[in-house]
Amino acid sequence: MPEGANPKAKIAVFISGTGTNMAALLYASRLPTANYEIVLVASNAPDAAGLTLAAEEGVAVFAHAHRGMERSDHDSIMEQAAKDAGAEYIVLAGYMRILSDSFVERWAGRMLNIHPSLLPKYRGLDTHQRALDAGDASAGATVHLVSSELDAGEILGQSDVAIMPDDTAETLAERVRIAEHQLYPHIVNDYTGRCFDAAWLLGRVRALALQLPEAEERESHGSPGWRTGGKTGKFFAHFNDQHHGERHIALLAKTSGQDEMTALIERDPDVFYRPKYYGASGWIGLILNRPDTDWTQVEHWLERSWQSVAPKRLTKLLDIANEF
Ligand code: GRF
Repeated sequence: MPEGANPKAKIAVFISGTGTNMAALLYASRLPTANYEIVLVASNAPDAAGLTLAAEEGVAVFAHAHRGMERSDHDSIMEQAAKDAGAEYIVLAGYMRILSDSFVERWAGRMLNIHPSLLPKYRGLDTHQRALDAGDASAGATVHLVSSELDAGEILGQSDVAIMPDDTAETLAERVRIAEHQLYPHIVNDYTGRCFDAAWLLGRVRALALQLPEAEERESHGSPGWRTGGKTGKFFAHFNDQHHGERHIALLAKTSGQDEMTALIERDPDVFYRPKYYGASGWIGLILNRPDTDWTQVEHWLERSWQSVAPKRLTKLLDIANEF
């Protein structure tokens, strides 16, 4: 990995057939801007054409036929293969299997799918014929997170494809496939790279900070910060994006003082650090630009920090609310 570059997200691609989306993902992963790499292509169909291509391209492959097996047993075998390959995300690309709920839950937020329609229209099969029968002006493709309800998880991106007067399901499918090949790598790249993206990280911190009572955003020393308690209120959090040449994008939160700060940094140097210019007054840095940021921990620190500066009239209210 070049000095200063972010680590690439590791993805396993699950296929059942030709694997043209897998190929699009693979070739996009070789571009200089790629945030991800494919560590495994896995299939429930040992003769899937996509496996041959992936192997030829030097990607690790795995296959296990599902016939005669319990769904959850087959899922476990596929999941284990993905884990053994070090996958952090599972990307479904024409994987024609319904997955068991527990498998989907374990990968919540880390499993994506592409579907050949503009969801929420036409979940399930025969999407192109259904769009033609309905007389739609356009069809398209959707990339979404996988949830336990089929084709109903959060939508991450869509591409429109015009329906032409003489289209058949086959000709339409062909054009939608071209759109899929653009859309899927683009969305996977954004999604796997966003944990290093300052604008995305700020948006997430902002949403959590502004949930706290009477929280408001104010710039402080050129960075976004949040304070509470009105005009005379104090800051409870700051957002630093590589402040003064530091490597980190971080949330600064208030500790009880130097002892706690030192202990936290010693215990978890991948998460905490002493920010320049703020450290002396008890502000600790929580590093956000890493693949495994624990957002519950971020929320906890925001709340704790808020508690430590908020006026009594507000902390009392929160205490009462927390009792229920
Ligand atoms: C694609 O149309 C995708 O939307 C759907 O299955 C098809 C897979 O095609 N989920 P390929 O195997 O990637 O060529």
